[in-house]
Amino acid sequence: MSLVCLTDFETLARQRLSKTTWDYIEGGADEGITRDDNVAAFKRFRLRPRYLRDVSEVDTRTTIQGEEISAPICIAPSGFHRIAWPDGEMSTARAAQAAGTCYITSTYASCTLEDIVAAAPRGLRWFQLYVQTNWELNKQLIQRAESLGFQALVITVDVPVPGKRRNDIRNQVDLKLNLMLKDLRSPEEKNFIPDIQLSSINSSFCWNDLSWFQSITQLPIILKGILTKEDAELAVKHKVQGIIVSNHGGRQLDEVPASIDALMEVVTAVKGKIEVYMDGGVRTGNDVLKTLALGAKCIFLGRPILWGLACKGECGVEEVLNILKTEFHTSMVLAGCRSVAEINWDLIQFSRL
Ligand code: FNR
Repeated sequence: MSLVCLTDFETLARQRLSKTTWDYIEGGADEGITRDDNVAAFKRFRLRPRYLRDVSEVDTRTTIQGEEISAPICIAPSGFHRIAWPDGEMSTARAAQAAGTCYITSTYASCTLEDIVAAAPRGLRWFQLYVQTNWELNKQLIQRAESLGFQALVITVDVPVPGKRRNDIRNQVDLKLNLMLKDLRSPEEKNFIPDIQLSSINSSFCWNDLSWFQSITQLPIILKGILTKEDAELAVKHKVQGIIVSNHGGRQLDEVPASIDALMEVVTAVKGKIEVYMDGGVRTGNDVLKTLALGAKCIFLGRPILWGLACKGECGVEEVLNILKTEFHTSMVLAGCRSVAEINWDLIQFSRL
């Protein structure tokens, strides 16, 4: 089967993976309304191309938190990459490094942070934290990531408890995934810090706790999972450095807006004071173009990366990133944008919405 677009990888990955693994990756919360809307909502926007501009040279490069990436297409955090490919996150990290883009490593990685860094020492990497009930463990995880060269701390805010994913319950996946978690403590810490398997996500975490994070790390802090102007304004007030507009791929609260529909509200609220990124439902170059036109600095890919891994490991992830980058390049050329800086709201036909 020739793989020419991201959904081709989806089709092949479905054939390659067990039903339980497929269900875990694809799953949305409850009725899957938001998961499906993330993809569908992009198709409600139409583009306004401009012609007779010299588009013989088009540059897809941009920066996030001051670091250059080859295109505004990065890798969202997702747990347990070893369910898709034996080398797991090490393959993902190598592919991200080869593609010149950023990879956000999940708290629930199935390889150690050390192994991930060793696999791709020159890659741009951010660390995603699910805030744990044990504050010592939070501190240790963050400081460990910082000393390993992770360049930002992404705190996921939309999981005070996991959403209800019906197929995971039917398939009883919890235990299997828990066994794949890596112990992220160093040997001397093992005596007094609980194993992450024994810890749990902290549902009392709130805005006032952000100053504690700022006191223990120099890393820029990015909040992942913001969907409203109220929370976007609070994020600016609490001096974080970025927001990822996200609904967790529709895996948390169902029936919230598609990410692309929430993006404009957040972008308007932050008034350019911090960088805004987005994930959820991005599958084509036009999707990337629309997301940037609506004010995001870059997009992050969740499921498509796991499809790439499941199909061909590291090469599959690289192909997914390259296909999307090439599509985005073509979209820019056809829309008359020579650089990422030229992509703006004028590209979107608002009257039709
Ligand atoms: C996720 N996501 C996620 N987010 C996070 O902050 N930490 C995590 O460990 C995970 N794990 C995870 C596993 C799987 C299997 C999926 C599909 C998703 C959410 C992820 O970062 C991102 O928000 C969405 O996946 C983006 O939507 P798309 O690209 O999958 O449509």
